[in-house]
Amino acid sequence: VHENRPSSSIPCLPRLPVLGSLPWLGGGLPPHLLFTRLAHRYGSLFALYLGPHYTVVVNNHQHAREVLLQRGRDFAGRPSMVTTDLLTRGGKDIAFSDYSPLWKSHRRLVHNSFTLFGEGTGRLQDIVLSSVDSLCVELMSAGCRGFDPSPAVTRAVTNVVCQLVFSATYRHGDAELQEVIQYNNGIVQTITRGGLVDIFPWMKIFPNECLSKLKECITVRDRLLTRKLEEHKGLFLLFVLPVTCIQGKSESGRGQKSPGSEEERITDDHVLMTAAEAFGAGVETTSTTLLWILAYLLHHPEVQERVQKELDENVGSERPVCMSDRSRLPYLDCVINEGMRIRPVSPVLIPHTAMTDSSIGGHSVSRGTRVLVNMWAIHHEPRHWDKPDLFNPDRFLDNQGQRVTPSYFLPFGAGPRVCVGESLARLELFLFLSSMLQRISFSLPEGAPPPNLQGRLGVVLQPLPYKVVVAPRCQYSSGAR
Ligand code: HEM
Repeated sequence: VHENRPSSSIPCLPRLPVLGSLPWLGGGLPPHLLFTRLAHRYGSLFALYLGPHYTVVVNNHQHAREVLLQRGRDFAGRPSMVTTDLLTRGGKDIAFSDYSPLWKSHRRLVHNSFTLFGEGTGRLQDIVLSSVDSLCVELMSAGCRGFDPSPAVTRAVTNVVCQLVFSATYRHGDAELQEVIQYNNGIVQTITRGGLVDIFPWMKIFPNECLSKLKECITVRDRLLTRKLEEHKGLFLLFVLPVTCIQGKSESGRGQKSPGSEEERITDDHVLMTAAEAFGAGVETTSTTLLWILAYLLHHPEVQERVQKELDENVGSERPVCMSDRSRLPYLDCVINEGMRIRPVSPVLIPHTAMTDSSIGGHSVSRGTRVLVNMWAIHHEPRHWDKPDLFNPDRFLDNQGQRVTPSYFLPFGAGPRVCVGESLARLELFLFLSSMLQRISFSLPEGAPPPNLQGRLGVVLQPLPYKVVVAPRCQYSSGAR
């Protein structure tokens, strides 16, 4: 269905009936690079038709700030898609749910629990630090052989989320943890590959290998999470408890509700989807960012040394790094930011939709229009970033050595749809990297080529597998804590 009329003034790719602009999007480039190339030809704000869907692509930061912040409320909708509807039981999560009062309170609840537990009690820090300890032990046990750090890093980040959602940690090799990692992987590999069914939903009547695999993984996920939630009912669960409280409240208040408001409740499905989303949105993004930064450190040993010097001077080797050290470690912060700039794990943000007639850059945009924000283009814009393809953490420091955060750096998005896990992600990135580099030096195995930095796009932009050698730096023992 053609749901809206385009504003004539935004340059638009050619289109054919039914296919829309798809024939002009070939060539095998991933969307962020394709859009960046098209922006050179059509200008930084252009439009195209994904099948019947009129879609505006935003490639510069002023327009992105309009869409995300200044008119954030206008553009806070999400389109409904076959694969994500399957994944989220029709949008009962946060990331893919359309804007609604129920979504708003669901989001606020999860956001508040992060703020409360993260900044308030230090519990989040303890959870992350214990996962870091096991990660360092595991990395070190590989000795001087070259190995792929990815499984250990993914396991450590998965364990943080397991702790948050069901107060459980898993040992290396645990069957249940493997199951979580496996289904998560399956979802990550298939969710964006459903491909055409997300543009032409009627195609779901045809056999589709990706869609079948996705359904299988979702079944495994739901079985496992339902079991875990049953086991842990009544326990302290960071994510789920506040949601369950609200659920209880609205159920007890059911009698007073006016007819029609029955759907406006947080249901068991929402609780399950909240737990699932903590894994879906919280694992791949964080572990991939860590792996990108590690890959760049292997390319730039001088950056690794400088971070370690900063750590030695400000923390030493006698105690673990903690969040209160952050202000004393500005260069490490810059390394993290530069990693997220040069390889944003979400190079094109989750699609937004206009919930009302609005405008971008003075061009009118009608209700229902889909908007794609190409963060890759914004993070590689040569007018703002000197030599954008160079990994240079110093660009986040001013002349006085103070940290700066430019307005065109938006790794978590911004506005009403800003990443709800930003504070957790920042805490994890800081504690994982600082602790690893305090205790371990990473280098390339002898004769091995440095990591390929092109990456591969699934749900997130991932580095291709690479190998490292680790060497212990100090006689740090976690018993020192
Ligand atoms: C959304 C980045 C970690 C949960 C997003 C968005 C980005 C992002 C770019 C989309 C914003 C938009 O659509 O405009 C990242 C990065 C991470 C990270 C770079 C790690 C380095 C996490 C974690 C969690 C999380 C740890 C939770 C445990 C979410 C959720 C949304 C989201 C629920 C959807 C928000 C909404 O639609 O309202 N994230 N994220 N993310 N993220 Fe993250």
